[in-house]
Parts: sequence; structure tokens; C-alpha cells
Amino acid sequence: MTAGTGATGPTGAGAGDPGGTGTGAPGATAPAVTATTLVRACRRQPVAHTPVWFMRQAGRSLPEYRAARGAGSILEAVADASLAAELTLQPVRRYGVDAAILFSDIVVPVHAVGFGVEIEQGRGPVVAEPFRAASDLRRLRPLEPDVDVPSVAEAARLVAAELAGTDVALVGFAGAPFTVASYLVEGGPSRTFARVKALMHGEPATWEALVDRLATMASAFLAAQVRAGATVVQLFDSWAGWLSPTEYRRFVLPATARVLGDVAALGVPTILFGVGTGELLGLMATSGADVIGVDWRVPLDEARRRVGPDRAVQGNLDPAICLAPWEVVAAETRDVLDRAGAARGHVFNLGHGVLPETDPGVLGAVVDLVHAEGRAGVRP
Ligand code: CP3
Repeated sequence: MTAGTGATGPTGAGAGDPGGTGTGAPGATAPAVTATTLVRACRRQPVAHTPVWFMRQAGRSLPEYRAARGAGSILEAVADASLAAELTLQPVRRYGVDAAILFSDIVVPVHAVGFGVEIEQGRGPVVAEPFRAASDLRRLRPLEPDVDVPSVAEAARLVAAELAGTDVALVGFAGAPFTVASYLVEGGPSRTFARVKALMHGEPATWEALVDRLATMASAFLAAQVRAGATVVQLFDSWAGWLSPTEYRRFVLPATARVLGDVAALGVPTILFGVGTGELLGLMATSGADVIGVDWRVPLDEARRRVGPDRAVQGNLDPAICLAPWEVVAAETRDVLDRAGAARGHVFNLGHGVLPETDPGVLGAVVDLVHAEGRAGVRP
């Protein structure tokens, strides 16, 4: 059997419930946060339906992405604000998700300050001269978003204008200090994270200075996105699960918590996500993030126990399951919804990014199923 075919419009948008005001911004520097369904679920408030979006929802699984994207590097696409805005909106139109995630990448800030990072298709970020010693810190000057990455805020403004008055949130994001540092130190994707671990254990002062600079860059990058209209922020610490709890607490959590605190002061909810973080979920829950992203390895009811009652959870359908027959996808989606239960604070997502070979029709059908059957915090 094939998946539902009716996944062509933003059916989740504008469900007649912009959901009240709920600005919550203390400093009045950020625009008022519209309390969309996603924002409400992040804050563990009652919702009309379970919100759903997909990490890496823009990308090669969509034919319209491949058509619009052209042949250049993804960093060139990010530098073109109107193209980035279009790529951000494509999955909203196609799937009816409750959020757009700004089309960008976690290495955009370090690329913009001239560290020498490129993204190789099929491989990921690669660094010509990796970070090796304290003397490399000077290659990481502070980010000035308006000067260094003007297209990012411009794209966010274009998307926010398009989404105004709908129930679709705009998610801004940055790479967390550890995950960005891992690329700078390893020089590219790694299986062992040996060099980055050698640095943190062998030269802790240099390590702390490195993650401190990356935290300041991430905060500036996220503040620019929030000022331009992002209403939720996700910090991707994708590779944190390769660390022990002791390493995470000592070498990673402080800088991560600082970024999350800086964003929280702008009045938007925050999501902290990593892969393979089962043993770190309790620590991640102390970071200050409102929502803890969970991969597929930990069942969501167990993840809720580890995270505790005062944080929301996001996840956690295995992206590989989306390639199975629809009956399997539907059963696994229902299992996630069952384990999320009726307590407030569940954002449906995959456990990691959409795989390029995914049938877009399957994702549209998952959205419809989650909207129809999700119970977490849903008003009767
Ligand atoms: O739809 C979205 O989620 C928004 C776009 C987005 C991209 N990168 C665009 C992109 C997001 C959220 C990211 C975050 C990102 N980038 C992460 C964290 C998420 C995760 O997967 O854990 C990481 C680790 C990166 C670094 C990176 N950039 C990798 C590993 C790759 C894949 C390389 C490849 O070709 O397989 C990239 C490139 C990249 N970033 C692509 C996209 C759509 C694919 C390449 C392209 O279309 O040119």
C-alpha cells in the first residue's frame, strides 16, 4: 500500500487558532512571539493538536528542492536570501508541518569568519587547516551577523512575512559548540572523535577558549535569527552522544547552557538535540533548554522519565523506518504517540534528519496521522 497522497497543502497551517498572545519577551528587543502550536507545545501548554516537523525537511528528498537548488555549494544557496527562503517554505507547502526550519547550516558562522570551511556534497563539512593549537583561536573572530551573514536574517524576514498570521512557526538554529568544534578540530566528519577528545582532555584551557568563542558566535547567530522572526530555536549538538556523561558535564554542558540562556533571554523557547544521547538526557535537561530532542534509540516514555516532568520532549521516529511499507510507518508513528502519552509537551519529529531517499508522500501521511491522533496536551 502506498502512503497518503493528500499531502500537498499546508493543512496544519492556520487551524483557526493562532493560540493567544504569550509573548514572554522580557527585554522587548525581540518581536512578540506568536504562540503557534509548536511554541505552545515547547512551553508545555495545552495545544489543539500535536505539532510535527522534520529535521532536514528541506533537501534532496524533495524534487522541488533539487529543481530550485541548482549546482552550486549549499553555502552559496544560503547566501542567496530569496532562494534560502524558498527552500525553507517548500516543505511547509508540501507536508503541512507545524514549522519551517530556516535553510542554513551549522558551519555558516565559522565559514563566514573565514576559518576555511567548505561543505562537500555527500561528505559534509571539511576544513582545509583544522584547529590544532591555541594559536588557531585568532582565526575565530566574533561573528557580526549583519555584516558577515546578512542573507540569513534576510531569509528569516522573508519567511516570517510569508508565515505571518498562520499557525506555522519558524525555527532558527545553530550548531552547538561541541559539534561545530568537532568539525574544526577533526577537519571533517569523524567516526572516533579522537582528536577533539585529545584536545579537551590534553589542553583543557584551549578547549574551553574554543567552545567559549563558538558559544558567543552561536548566540549572536541565533539572536539575529530571532530578531528577524524565528519564534523557536534549536541547538544541534548532533555528535554529543559520542561523549561520556563525565565529558559532557565538564567539557560541553557549560558552553551549551550559556547559548541556551542567551536565547531564552530573547523570549523564544529552545530545543537541544543530539544523536545517541540516551545516557546524557538527564544532563541535557539541566542545560536550560525547554525541549530535549531524542533520537530513536530511547523509547519516548523512557526519555520522558530521564528528562523529567518540567521539560518537553521532541522526537523520535527512526528516519530509516520511513523507507518501510506504510503499515510499518503508521504503526511506529502510533507507538511514538502512545509513548508520548497525554501529558503536555511533545513535539513530534524524527530521531534524526530525513534521509534523502525518503518518499515525500510518506512524510505527508505521517503529518496527517500525528495531527489526527497525537494526544500530548491536546485539549479534549
Ligand atoms: O531542512 C532543514 O533541516 C534545514 C537545513 C539544514 C541543513 N543543514 C542544510 C543542508 C540543517 C538544519 C542543517 C544542520 C546540520 N548541518 C547539521 C545538524 C543536523 C544533523 O544532521 O545532525 C549538521 C551535522 C550539518 C553539517 C552538514 N551539512 C552535513 C553532515 C551535511 C551533509 C553532507 C551530504 O551531502 O550528505 C551538510 C550539507 C547540507 N546541509 C545539505 C543540506 C540540505 C545537503 C547538501 C546539499 O543539498 O548541497
